[in-house]
Amino acid sequence: MRRGAWAILKSYLQFRKKCLPKGGYGIHSPFIFNLYTTVISNNRKEPIFDSIELYRKEMLRCDIEIIRKSVAGSLNRGFRGELVKLSRLARTVAVPPHLGRLLYRVVQHAKPANMVELGTSIGISSMYIARANPTGVLYTIEGDEAVFGIAQKHFETLPLDNIKPICGIFETELPHLAQELNSFDFVFIDGDHNGTKLLEYFDVILPKLTSNSIVVVDDIRWSQDMEDAWKEMKANRRVSVSLDLFRCGILFFRQGIAKQHFMLRYGPY
Ligand SMILES: C[S@@+](CC[C@H](N)C(=O)[O-])C[C@H]1O[C@@H](n2cnc3c(N)ncnc32)[C@H](O)[C@@H]1O
Repeated sequence: MRRGAWAILKSYLQFRKKCLPKGGYGIHSPFIFNLYTTVISNNRKEPIFDSIELYRKEMLRCDIEIIRKSVAGSLNRGFRGELVKLSRLARTVAVPPHLGRLLYRVVQHAKPANMVELGTSIGISSMYIARANPTGVLYTIEGDEAVFGIAQKHFETLPLDNIKPICGIFETELPHLAQELNSFDFVFIDGDHNGTKLLEYFDVILPKLTSNSIVVVDDIRWSQDMEDAWKEMKANRRVSVSLDLFRCGILFFRQGIAKQHFMLRYGPY
């Protein structure tokens, strides 16, 4: 169950007590110091950000209603079968601009060949990821046919040629992708906000990761079970470095370096 405002505030105060200050002070790993100062907290504006945010603005003003038609049994957020305005989806489910920019910079830095996203929705995060790395291919999975249609139409009109949108549930489409692709070089998990499911997806993802792969998990403090699942993920023996940015977590799988965990401030946190 989603945490209430007080629980989130308590969790944030605990985070602030433990996290390192902004600026990279106290990060002793050269790899993480470099990543934090030049990629994560680099606030450089890219012209492409404005065009993606323009699309968000259009969606925020859009009164068109869609009936959320789930192909999944367990879609969350309580919209299933409901009539929902696109403006509400843009306001409540899309990644905020600071997280979009973070995805962009991490992907631009790593240049992953195969990128996988769980949870397309109206396609805001997909656009940040795909635009950051035109030579890679983004496979993005969405279980709601109605929002899938909106995102797909938008990807076609832009056009964004390096996105392969997949309409289906993670439970079946992720194993298909794992069979089809040699490796998952970048994964963004932003779908089911359910700890048990998150660990199930991680089990499918793990064998496809290489030592250069990066996994970003959104909403790690959404609920107690999401936070527990995040803790289990970062404890996995294949994870060498984990970054907790309060809202989201980033996992690295580099070999030959000591396991380390950092709590770092980014964006409004
Ligand atoms: C938070 S939204 C994704 C937002 C998107 N990443 C963005 O920033 O624009 C999560 C999406 O995952 C989809 N979803 C949730 N559980 C799913 C499942 N088991 N299979 C397929 N899609 C699922 C929902 O329909 C929803 O559109």
